[in-house]
Order: sequence, then C-alpha cells, then structure tokens
Amino acid sequence: MTQRIWNFSAGPAVLPESVLEEARNNLLSLGSTGIGILEHSHRGKAFLAIYEETEALVRSVGDVPADYKVLFLQGGASTQFFQIPMNYLSSDRTADYLVTGAWSEKAEEEARRFGKTHLACSSQDKNYSYIPAKCSFSANPAYVHYTSNNTIFGTQWHNLPMVSNGVDLICDASSDIFSRPIDVSKYAMIYAGAQKNLGPAGVTLVLMRDEMIERGAKNLPTMLQYRTHAKNESMYNTPPTFAIYLVGLVLKWIKQGGGLTAIGERNQKKAGKLYAYLDQSRLFKPTTALDSRSQMNVTFVTGDADLDAKFCSAATQAGFDGLKGHRSVGGMRASIYNAFPEAGIDAFIEFLKKFEAENHKSP
Ligand SMILES: Cc1ncc(COP(=O)(O)O)c(C=O)c1O
Repeated sequence: MTQRIWNFSAGPAVLPESVLEEARNNLLSLGSTGIGILEHSHRGKAFLAIYEETEALVRSVGDVPADYKVLFLQGGASTQFFQIPMNYLSSDRTADYLVTGAWSEKAEEEARRFGKTHLACSSQDKNYSYIPAKCSFSANPAYVHYTSNNTIFGTQWHNLPMVSNGVDLICDASSDIFSRPIDVSKYAMIYAGAQKNLGPAGVTLVLMRDEMIERGAKNLPTMLQYRTHAKNESMYNTPPTFAIYLVGLVLKWIKQGGGLTAIGERNQKKAGKLYAYLDQSRLFKPTTALDSRSQMNVTFVTGDADLDAKFCSAATQAGFDGLKGHRSVGGMRASIYNAFPEAGIDAFIEFLKKFEAENHKSP
C-alpha cells in the first residue's frame, strides 16, 4: 500500500487508521452476514443494530440528555443554515446571529429569507481574527445562532455566549463537535457536518431538544420538518448508511480513548505544541488573537505571500498535505482534528524549524 502522509485537510479530514481498517474489513461482508456494509438495507436487522449502537454512542460520548433527539440528516451543515430559520423564524420575528466568520455569515444570509436578523456581534472589522468579548442581543430573539469554531479563520469560542434564560441557543459545531467536553443541556440545538471530527462527508449530526422539534413549522415540505426525522429515527428516507456506520466506529474510538475529557486534553496538547512553536518563531506568526485561538484549525503566515507559497509546496513534498490557507486569510492552515495524531504535530514542528532555519533572513 502507498504510505499514508500527514493530512492537514480542513475537511473531509484524516480519520483514525483503526477505523478505516475496520471499515475495510467489513466492505465485502459485514461480520458474517455475507453482505458488505455498503450493500445492507437500512431496514435490515444488521444495519438497524449499527444505527442503534451509533445513536447510543452519540448519547454516551456526548452525555446527551434524555429529552434530546439524535438525528442523522443529509444536505450538510449548509442545509441547516436555511432549515433552522424555515422552522423557527417568521417575518414578524428576529433571530440573533453571532457573526465570527464566513460560515456564520452564510447562516445569517439564509435566515434573512425568512425573517429579520440582528447581528449580536461581529469580528468582521479585523477579518474575523478574534472572538468578540461582548454580544448585544435583541429584546426577544426567536433564537441565537453561533459557530463554535471558525474553520477558515482559525478562531474558537472558549466560553458559551451568555444568552438570557429561556432563549434558544443554536450552535453550528461542524468543526469542533466532540473535540472537548460539551454541556448539551445548554443548547436548544447543536448541528455538525461529520466530515471533520466525526466521520466522512455525507451525514450531519443534529442534537435537538424534543420541545423544540415539536414547535417547528408544520406547513413545510415533509423532509424539511425536523419532526419527520425525529419520528422516523432518521429513516423517513434512505439514510447515509455508510457514513452513519463510520460515525459509530469513530465514536467507539473516542470512547475507547477515554471519551471527550481525554480527547479534549489531547487536542489541547497538540494545538498547544504548535502555537508554542509559532509564538517563538522569527519567521511564522499566528493570525488570530491569543484568547480566541482554535484548537482545531491553526492559521499562520510568514507575512510574505511568496514565501507562504514556497512553504506550502515544500511541505507537500515533505509529506505534509493540505496546508494552504483559505484565500480569505492567505498563508497556512493546519487542521488538526480529533484523529490527527500528536506524532504528526511533532514531525511538522521539526519541518517548520528546518524551513525557518533555511529561510529566515535576519533584519
Ligand atoms: C463551521 C462550518 N459550518 C458549516 C460548514 C458547511 O458544511 P457542509 O459543507 O457540510 O455544508 C463548514 C464546512 O467546512 C464549516 O466549517
């Protein structure tokens, strides 16, 4: 087999090798069934057992309260951008958006199709390089929406936005779901595309309070009402069976590794090592405010676009892939989600040191 390289992709992203191996072993025959995992009916016993186990794993790993539904939806996190306001916003109401990057911008834009929006905070003035310290909420918002980790800009909320009691807090956790302990009970809804921390592309995990599901609009197409999926165990239509199976394997891997507390400590250590190197470097510097740094996406620059390009190309040649920063930030972005190993961080820091020694010119 071709040797695997260090994959810093922002998503779809690296998955645990043990998970990939187990999936490979079940491609031709899931256990002793004689039918591959991709070929099993979603209504059959074998897949239903996988579905139930995966749902139970979401509940136990995420400590999801009993009055929340676990849904596996399709259409990506981007579908949630409009499905949420479609269900919970109307022309006579206002929803509050905390705008800290391109994805929250997109979510807010979609909401404007259905009602009024209020920007409770924004960090656009400094190209989304920080998380605002204060929010100013509207009087009676339909809900408050924020993005816990800003994949493109490399910032992350380290404290929950302080919404008033009784206000529904909705979180797009696509790029940091289950990367650290989370208190689900503080949210009305959490959603995340699986393709960064939980599995492959093709499934969106939604955790939603029962009471909120019931309140959703009833005059919508069946597929766009959350209650449809809640009532049918996410099987009103054919679910993305393989993606759900892989999410289950990743969750088992997280659980065996000590759950969210342990993975949170590992993620903190990995990101900490990389930021510590960047902070003392004379060539590279992080692009984000110290108190807002993401543990998932580490963005940094040299300050010279040509040198950044030279770095990315040298890194690819040395076996470090996916480091080119998003065009709206430039420079580099190292995405180091749950499954990115610490050994890859160590190897990368050695490479950064070597590149710095060869390319830093003293002033
Ligand atoms: C924070 C965040 N939200 C939403 C999205 C969009 O997700 P999808 O491509 O699953 O629609 C992304 C994709 O990278 C993301 O990082």
